[in-house]
Amino acid sequence: MNRMQRATLGGKLSAVLVAAGSSVGLGNIWRFPYVAGNNGGGAFLAIYILCVLLLGLPLMIAEFTVGRATHRNAVGAYRTLDPRWSILGYNGVLAAFLILGFYFVVSGWTAEYMVHSVTGELGRLGSAEAYAAMFENFIRNPWRPLLYTSLFVLATHFVIALGVQKGIERSAKVLMPLLFIILVALAVHSLLMPGSSEGLRFFLQPDFSKVTPATLLVALGQAFFSLSIGIGTMVTYAAYFKPDTDLRRTALNVTILDTLVALLAGIVIFPAVFSVGIAPSAGPPLVFVTLPGIFNDMPWSMVWSSVFFLLLIVAALTSTISLHEVITAYLHEEWHLNRRAAAWTTTASTLALSALASLSLGVLNDWRIGGLDLFDSLDYLTANILLPVGGFFTCIFVGWCMERKSLRAQITNDGRLPFHIERLFYFLLRYICPAILLIVFLDNLGLFKK
Ligand code: TRP
Repeated sequence: MNRMQRATLGGKLSAVLVAAGSSVGLGNIWRFPYVAGNNGGGAFLAIYILCVLLLGLPLMIAEFTVGRATHRNAVGAYRTLDPRWSILGYNGVLAAFLILGFYFVVSGWTAEYMVHSVTGELGRLGSAEAYAAMFENFIRNPWRPLLYTSLFVLATHFVIALGVQKGIERSAKVLMPLLFIILVALAVHSLLMPGSSEGLRFFLQPDFSKVTPATLLVALGQAFFSLSIGIGTMVTYAAYFKPDTDLRRTALNVTILDTLVALLAGIVIFPAVFSVGIAPSAGPPLVFVTLPGIFNDMPWSMVWSSVFFLLLIVAALTSTISLHEVITAYLHEEWHLNRRAAAWTTTASTLALSALASLSLGVLNDWRIGGLDLFDSLDYLTANILLPVGGFFTCIFVGWCMERKSLRAQITNDGRLPFHIERLFYFLLRYICPAILLIVFLDNLGLFKK
């Protein structure tokens, strides 16, 4: 892979922008509220934040160092440093493929909701039950979700293929703050709904008696999912970073931004959930059922909801681009396909998988993998298994196998930045992070049952 090509792709973009674009997405606004709701609220949030700080942040820095040290795709990066570790890159490419399988489907729903907002259809229904019925109806339909999903896949493809990433990322620079502002406005509105305090209590007040081993694993998986770590996305992106990018500061900024957006999403959703009487454990439909109700309650509801869903589409797009890029960069550099062919191969295969995942909510719902339909099993397998496993081995690799000199060179930009917390960073990466990951895993296998 020649570096010039790499450099032109994203060279002039700010690292924070692309990495935040990857991190902030449906994981924050759709997945976070639903898993928090499924896992008891407050205690989940506390554990989630601990996971972000203790595991997420060091791991993001670790992935950045691997990417910028090698300037390669996920597989090539690990192989360059140590051929035995290319398997870690393969885990990433596989996970990116499987995540796109359901992520594209949810992105399609977002697109459908935007269209319904614009046509005013979303505003006509009144009750939470009506919105729930509408959502069920929509996702079970064999054609409509498929259409929107395909459109979304193609949009991602063309951004990648035309190399207009820069354009997208630049507009994201304007649009993401706007998303943030809308979220704040929605949060204020939510908090003013009657009965909102119960929702707020559910979300913010920890009740640790509800915590099970599964809660820990789910919180950990959600933290990795939301930050886009564990599968080499940040390796792939950091390969495009400039030599003077401060990796630690970038990781810190991205982590803060990502966590704020998730928090805001929770403050929007839970008060409303309790106010209109939906179960917080409604699962994946939660946000799609709650949000239209909130908009409906507001003046200019059509404008609010159209703009909101449009921004959500942009947030989802900057995330699907990063996942698509993991696979495309791998096929391009390792299989020596040209970028066009690599991008098309990725697009065609992820489209096929997401079509199946979409249909698994309707006509193919009888296909079960371990009791789950394909959509749910892709979500479960990636967030709760592949990402934490990838994270575990990333800690081991960067903490124990990567040359300390080269790690230090990346973090300090060849000695130009100080590295006061080197000891702490190493300690976390070598001992604390792998130990937590291991314990949570073994705990879930029931090894510590009394
Ligand atoms: N983090 C994104 C979100 O929250 C999704 C995503 C993009 C992702 N790249 C990833 C998740 C890599 C896991 C790994 O929506």
